Amino acid sequence: MSEQKATITFPEGNSIELPVSEGSEKEKAIDISNLRAQSGYITLDPGYGNTGSCDSAITFIDGEQGILRYRGYKIEDLAEHSSFLETSYLLINGKLPTAKELQTFDDKIRMHTLLHEDVKSFYDGFPRDAHPMAILASVVVSLSSFYQDEAGSPEEVSYLNSIRLMAKLPTIAAWAYKKSIGHPFTYPDNKRSYSENFLYMMFGLPVEKYEVDPLIVEVLDTLLILHADHEQNCSTSTVRIVRSSGVNLFASIAAGICALWGWRHGGANQQVIEMLNHIREDGGDVKKYIAMAKDKDSGFRLMGFGHRVYKNYDPRASVIRKKCEQVLQKLNNNDPTLEIARKLEEAALNDDYFKERNLYPNVDFYSGILYKAMRIPVNAFTVMFALGRLPGWIAHAKEYTEDPKNRIGRPRQVYTGETEREYVPIDKR
Ligand code: CMC
Repeated sequence: MSEQKATITFPEGNSIELPVSEGSEKEKAIDISNLRAQSGYITLDPGYGNTGSCDSAITFIDGEQGILRYRGYKIEDLAEHSSFLETSYLLINGKLPTAKELQTFDDKIRMHTLLHEDVKSFYDGFPRDAHPMAILASVVVSLSSFYQDEAGSPEEVSYLNSIRLMAKLPTIAAWAYKKSIGHPFTYPDNKRSYSENFLYMMFGLPVEKYEVDPLIVEVLDTLLILHADHEQNCSTSTVRIVRSSGVNLFASIAAGICALWGWRHGGANQQVIEMLNHIREDGGDVKKYIAMAKDKDSGFRLMGFGHRVYKNYDPRASVIRKKCEQVLQKLNNNDPTLEIARKLEEAALNDDYFKERNLYPNVDFYSGILYKAMRIPVNAFTVMFALGRLPGWIAHAKEYTEDPKNRIGRPRQVYTGETEREYVPIDKR
């Protein structure tokens, strides 16, 4: 807490002083936790654009400058030099692991990749065309019925259930895909690395040998790193608030998966590729779609554009765009959606509507083109986001749980309904 105070004067003429809190990157906040007790007022901030819900030491974003750092490390450096498991360790434990610590973390995760055999029967109950995010959330919450030890306790997030989630989410996700195409489930092969094992479970079959392309493994690992955390976004705030009721980690993470699914959040990556395909099939006239995005009555938004926090190029989108160009070239893949995406971006960045509102490509704009190149089905793109975001959710659940000042999350409201009125019996209405 800094020495500074903010003074608020109310319409009644009285004033109060509120403490000012300052973060390690000098961003300032007015601490309003005693505002109502001191004044009778609450604050109103629909969409929480100006509301800090916690202190957090995990991820720093400067949206004006386009900066993203996990535990102080630049996202660009992590994407170039780290692995997804190393980054996960960093997020969850607060420091880069030694070689031995990373090996132990990796070994533990490999030990837990199998799903309980009874979980397999749940897949029988889903329709073939179930959205994989529905399967992911349902199976994750069902794990709480298999692993009831330490539910809701600090130990749960520090150790076993976190490891179980990291280990099992790729298996759950790959099996959702296998279910959708009617293929037998491929069991994990623990000799393989995290990302390789996921691709093996997605595309491996019992009838033939499956070799995973190392380039694809590397790209997947990078994409997972780029998605691994993003401070208090919708799904992470959901994980924290659900956890705040005292519920177990599986239920908290399943809630985060549900929050991620929507088109304003992780679901945008599926929508982007559907939009790019649609524009291509419609003749590739990007100007028409830019005009539609500007017309509020059209109901159309440019998917993969805009961000609540970034008012500059999303640094994750820069890395993904570069990767996209390199990888498609290496794979000799002339995906025409990349050309449409480039044109759309150029047109938007030169258009006053987008310039005035600081709307830039976000993480979802180019990621789908890479997922497509990996043969990931379009409706599973958001599942890929969830796989990446998992260590961030775990890190936030852990930080929340270990905070001695933590309380249940419970916002207030300004009531705008009817004032007290008489109950009218049904025959008199
Ligand atoms: N296309 C056209 N106009 C847009 C877009 C867009 N993609 N995004 C924002 N705007 C306009 C919006 O109409 C509003 O205009 P005005 O001031 O004239 O009313 C202004 O820009 C501010 O938008 P907002 O909806 O108030 O901003 P927000 O911070 O509440 O929403 C957003 C952020 C990401 C939901 C929004 O930009 C959007 O809908 N983008 C498209 C969906 C998308 O790409 N989502 C992925 C987000 S990044 C990954 C993640 O978080 O999971």
